[in-house]
Amino acid sequence: MSPSLWTEGLGKSFCLHLQGGVRIPVLERVDFSVSPGECVALAGPSGAGKSTLMRCLYGNYGAEHGSIFIRHDGAAVELTAADARAMREIRRKTLGYVSQFLRVIPRVGALDIVAEPMIAQGMAPDAARARAEALLLRLNLPSRLHHLPPATFSGGEQQRVNLARGFAATYPILLLDEPTASLDAANREVVISLIAEAKAAGTAIIGIFHDVEVRDRVADRLFEVLPIQDAA
Ligand SMILES: Nc1ncnc2c1ncn2[C@@H]1O[C@H](COP(=O)(O)OP(=O)(O)O)[C@@H](O)[C@H]1O
Ligand SMILES: [Mg+2]
Repeated sequence: MSPSLWTEGLGKSFCLHLQGGVRIPVLERVDFSVSPGECVALAGPSGAGKSTLMRCLYGNYGAEHGSIFIRHDGAAVELTAADARAMREIRRKTLGYVSQFLRVIPRVGALDIVAEPMIAQGMAPDAARARAEALLLRLNLPSRLHHLPPATFSGGEQQRVNLARGFAATYPILLLDEPTASLDAANREVVISLIAEAKAAGTAIIGIFHDVEVRDRVADRLFEVLPIQDAA
């Protein structure tokens, strides 16, 4: 099956301007791919570059070397060449991202935060809110919280709002950054089921999972991100 997202010789380093422009190489010649219905877990020690790779794949960081390709609207699009407008379209329709922390929007209630991407994908607002409510309840977020802005929610409650938002809309590709980090065992099980259902529906998933048990239950394979050896 042709991949949903792949990289060719991806390289990225950081330039520390405050340290006289020292370059810290993080990713070197990364060749990665994920196919529809597959979940690939990024593995490797802390500081190896997993989060950096994830941010490159979401288009937050440009690639310094190599390319990132994504299947979008039936065509292979080079993410690294997409302008801001193309990037917005790719994120609206094709590429979902559950970041580790919810970006709270002032005064917008949890339900509307979850419904927003579905409405942006063309779902009728009432249907989107109904699905948002069902997902929030499935993630054990009590109804009394649904209309409140999540700014004052606990870390675990915010993470569940973020997860509901990511899984509510239909994305061919979904990035998950430590999706169960703040969750109790019961909600961890819900997330494992949501991942399994998304895979069965053909979504390609790339995740960072610190919880090895969760990782082993959802991942079809691991992609090892290797720390770059210091040049001697
Ligand atoms: N914005 C940044 N500026 C400079 N160095 C960074 C930046 N982000 C990450 N790094 C460095 O890049 C390396 C990889 O970081 P990261 O991708 O967060 O690793 P991981 O997610 O695997 O723990 C680390 O050495 C980190 O210090
Ligand atoms: Mg990280």
